[in-house]
Amino acid sequence: MKLIIDTDPGIDDAMAIAYAAAASEFNLIGLTTVFGNTHVHQSSRNARFLLDKLGLDLPVAEGASYPLGADTHAPSEHVHGPEGFGDLTEIPEIGQNHALPAAEFLVEMARTHKGELVVCAVGPLTNIANAMRLDPEFADNLRQLVIMGGAVYCPGNITQHAEANIYHDALAAEEVFSTPPNTVLVGLDVTLKTLYETADFEALAQRSPDMGSFLRDISRFYLKFYKEIGGLEGCGLHDSTAVIACSHQAMFNMVETGLRVVTDGDMMGATQPDPERPTIRVCCDVDEAGVVRLFTDRVASLP
Ligand code: BDR
Ligand code: CA
Repeated sequence: MKLIIDTDPGIDDAMAIAYAAAASEFNLIGLTTVFGNTHVHQSSRNARFLLDKLGLDLPVAEGASYPLGADTHAPSEHVHGPEGFGDLTEIPEIGQNHALPAAEFLVEMARTHKGELVVCAVGPLTNIANAMRLDPEFADNLRQLVIMGGAVYCPGNITQHAEANIYHDALAAEEVFSTPPNTVLVGLDVTLKTLYETADFEALAQRSPDMGSFLRDISRFYLKFYKEIGGLEGCGLHDSTAVIACSHQAMFNMVETGLRVVTDGDMMGATQPDPERPTIRVCCDVDEAGVVRLFTDRVASLP
């Protein structure tokens, strides 16, 4: 399966990229980056660093710095650390970004691999909305669009009503959900069930001394955040669960519904079922133990 991950690495993004690199069913074409957990230049630097660490020579196309119509963004330093990788602050710049901006790269890859490319968006949806604006056939050219975002039948994480990726660019999400030909939404409804605990990270580090230890080390900060805000003993495998949904849809229960995104006010970023909208598949339940096991087994195969 040809895959591009649109990402804001970000600790759980790093886990998802490692998973995609380890899972043999994926042919990773490249990464596109977006603001979100970090500023976009940090997302791109972290993406290039991760690919190098994984031994992959793949393009990183840099995307949006800000939400649609905005000219600022405050990164989630309290969740992902000042540079996006927890307590790790010295992250080298390796290589360079692709010549094309993310939205153009996505449009071109969707045309080149028409009907074959899966895009897994695990950050704010700005690049995806921009790709749809650039080419009205973009979404039709994809095999599937899988989105980590939203909290349809459960509370949010950044506010009571909103999940972070959707909240960070609610306008983009609203645009994307109004033209979804083949879209799967993997939101907090399932990703707060696929928790990865300290003991899971330790077991992973034992089996994968380089990558597993790296993920364990950067995740200490993330685990602390989850403990402090929700008393949770693990962190959500948010972005990895979305990547797993690209290839293992039988592990998920989905409902078909249209969705509307609230774009202002107290409810900004809320993802609400709306039967008038085009149908997308919303994950509402998951084989959580299966996802955690699959993640560990695959990433453990890395050095
Ligand atoms: C999502 O927000 C980000 O903090 C994570 O990387 C994930 O994509 C979870 O709400
Ligand atoms: Ca993310």
